[in-house]
Amino acid sequence: MALLCISMVLLILLAPCATSLTPPYNNTDLAALLDFKEQVKDPNGILASNWTASAPFCSWIGVSCDSSGKWVTGLEFEDMALEGTISPQIGNLSFLSSLVLSNTTLIGPVPTELDRLPRLQTLVLSYNSLSGTIPSILGNLTRLESLYLNSNKFFGGIPQELANLNNLQILRLSDNDLSGPIPQGLFNNTPNLSRIQLGSNRLTGAIPGSVGSLSKLEMLVLENNLLSGSMPAAIFNMSYLQAIAVTRNNLRGPIPGNESFHLPMLEFFSLGENWFDGPIPSGPSKCQNLDLFSLAVNNFTGSVPSWLATMPNLTAIYLSTNELTGKIPVELSNHTGLLALDLSENNLEGEIPPEFGQLRNLRYISFANNQITGTIPESIGNL
Ligand SMILES: *[C@@H]1O[C@H](CO)[C@@H](O)[C@H](O)[C@H]1NC(C)=O
Ligand SMILES: *[C@@H]1O[C@H](CO)[C@@H](O)[C@H](O)[C@H]1NC(C)=O
Ligand SMILES: *[C@@H]1O[C@H](CO)[C@@H](O)[C@H](O)[C@H]1NC(C)=O
Ligand SMILES: *[C@@H]1O[C@H](CO)[C@@H](O)[C@H](O)[C@H]1NC(C)=O
Ligand SMILES: *[C@@H]1O[C@H](CO)[C@@H](O)[C@H](O)[C@H]1NC(C)=O
Ligand SMILES: *[C@@H]1O[C@H](CO)[C@@H](O)[C@H](O)[C@H]1NC(C)=O
Ligand SMILES: *[C@@H]1O[C@H](CO)[C@@H](O)[C@H](O)[C@H]1NC(C)=O
Ligand SMILES: *[C@@H]1O[C@H](CO)[C@@H](O)[C@H](O)[C@H]1NC(C)=O
Ligand SMILES: *[C@@H]1O[C@H](CO)[C@@H](O)[C@H](O)[C@H]1NC(C)=O
Ligand SMILES: *[C@@H]1O[C@H](CO)[C@@H](O)[C@H](O)[C@H]1NC(C)=O
Ligand SMILES: *[C@@H]1O[C@H](CO)[C@@H](O)[C@H](O)[C@H]1NC(C)=O
Repeated sequence: MALLCISMVLLILLAPCATSLTPPYNNTDLAALLDFKEQVKDPNGILASNWTASAPFCSWIGVSCDSSGKWVTGLEFEDMALEGTISPQIGNLSFLSSLVLSNTTLIGPVPTELDRLPRLQTLVLSYNSLSGTIPSILGNLTRLESLYLNSNKFFGGIPQELANLNNLQILRLSDNDLSGPIPQGLFNNTPNLSRIQLGSNRLTGAIPGSVGSLSKLEMLVLENNLLSGSMPAAIFNMSYLQAIAVTRNNLRGPIPGNESFHLPMLEFFSLGENWFDGPIPSGPSKCQNLDLFSLAVNNFTGSVPSWLATMPNLTAIYLSTNELTGKIPVELSNHTGLLALDLSENNLEGEIPPEFGQLRNLRYISFANNQITGTIPESIGNL
């Protein structure tokens, strides 16, 4: 009797507790998270101590859920050693909208099961050692707004299926071992793309002309590749473009003249180590925010433009290793904001104007390998 009574009291006490232990959450999602945990070594024991069965998965570190607490909507880890592969069961987290595994010492491929995540908006797998090709199924994730696969060991081509990502805003595939061309149609259907970062790969062929039709583009970084041909002219007529970095490619041709150059937001203009020729473009003289102007190691001809001295925000001018002639423009000596001025390896002549001693913020200056004559002005000692 007494025993029964105690049991009943216990049952009553436990009842509410037991109800709350019945998982309100989706068991498939739970299984997927546990498999994710299983596939990594977790050397710092973070998952081991935090992802415990006694707490609902919505309270687990790195996991976020929808408002009902039933489904996982986000799985996000940055700068944490996981040491393992990405579980294909991630593809079972059917409500996932954000998957961020950045700088988490992961290896292996991107599981093709991710094609079962139609709600995914953010996919960030940067700074790992993931390898294999970029799976074409990513092109099925048409709600994706941000795709970061940079700083991994991906090889092969950029799948043209990525052209289906018509909501894409950021595409960052830099620092991999990607080869082949940038698919010509890649940007035909991505009106909201604001950042393209494909630098430090082995991409070949021409820059797709459709880049010039991306009216919201702010950043175009294609440096350290093997791209050839000329830059599509439309790239020099974009209202929001702040950075053009195509350094170290095989691009050629002249840059459009002042009339066809309309980049009002331009800050960073880096065209070095290519085969560009013609006069130094004067269009950037209209870019009031211009900060860095680098045309080094090309085949530009004509003189060093004096308008550079009128650019209020300019801090660095790199024009070395071209075919520039004429004198060092004395006007530049008034630009006290300059930190770096490199005019070396050209055919400049005349003397070094003593006024250059006013450039008190300068950290780097070089006029080496020109036909400059005379003495080094004493004022340079002020720097
Ligand atoms: C969990 O989610 C999956 C996929 O959305 C669904 O098929 C399954 O019925 C759900 N299970 C429960 C218990 O809600
Ligand atoms: C797991 O980490 C989360 C977030 O830091 C924290 O709120 C929660 O209490 C932790 N759970 C356990 C069991 O340590
Ligand atoms: C990666 O994380 C480590 C700490 O875990 C940190 O020291 C390092 O700077 C991070 N690297 C990047 C590229 O963020
Ligand atoms: C989850 O995904 C794996 C592999 O993708 C599959 O084999 C398994 O049946 C799925 N599990 C559940 C519970 O749906
Ligand atoms: C993925 O997209 C391709 C077209 O690129 C289509 O043929 C295929 O059916 C899609 N797969 C899924 C699972 O939606
Ligand atoms: C682009 O962005 C605008 C404003 O954010 C949005 O209304 C529109 O639906 C987006 N277009 C596409 C194709 O994603
Ligand atoms: C620049 O683009 C605008 C539309 O964005 C267009 O009307 C104009 O003709 C273009 N200018 C040049 C020189 O291509
Ligand atoms: C470029 O054109 C603008 C007018 O659009 C003019 O003000 C400026 O002086 C020109 N710059 C050069 C270097 O020709
Ligand atoms: C350029 O300089 C002006 C003032 O000299 C400043 O107001 C503006 O913010 C600067 N632009 C950038 C992009 O730094
Ligand atoms: C550079 O330009 C000069 C003059 O236009 C030309 O003679 C020379 O062949 C060019 N050099 C290269 C490497 O293209
Ligand atoms: C430098 O600026 C001063 C003051 O604005 C001006 O008087 C002088 O002519 C300028 N010197 C050069 C070489 O442009």
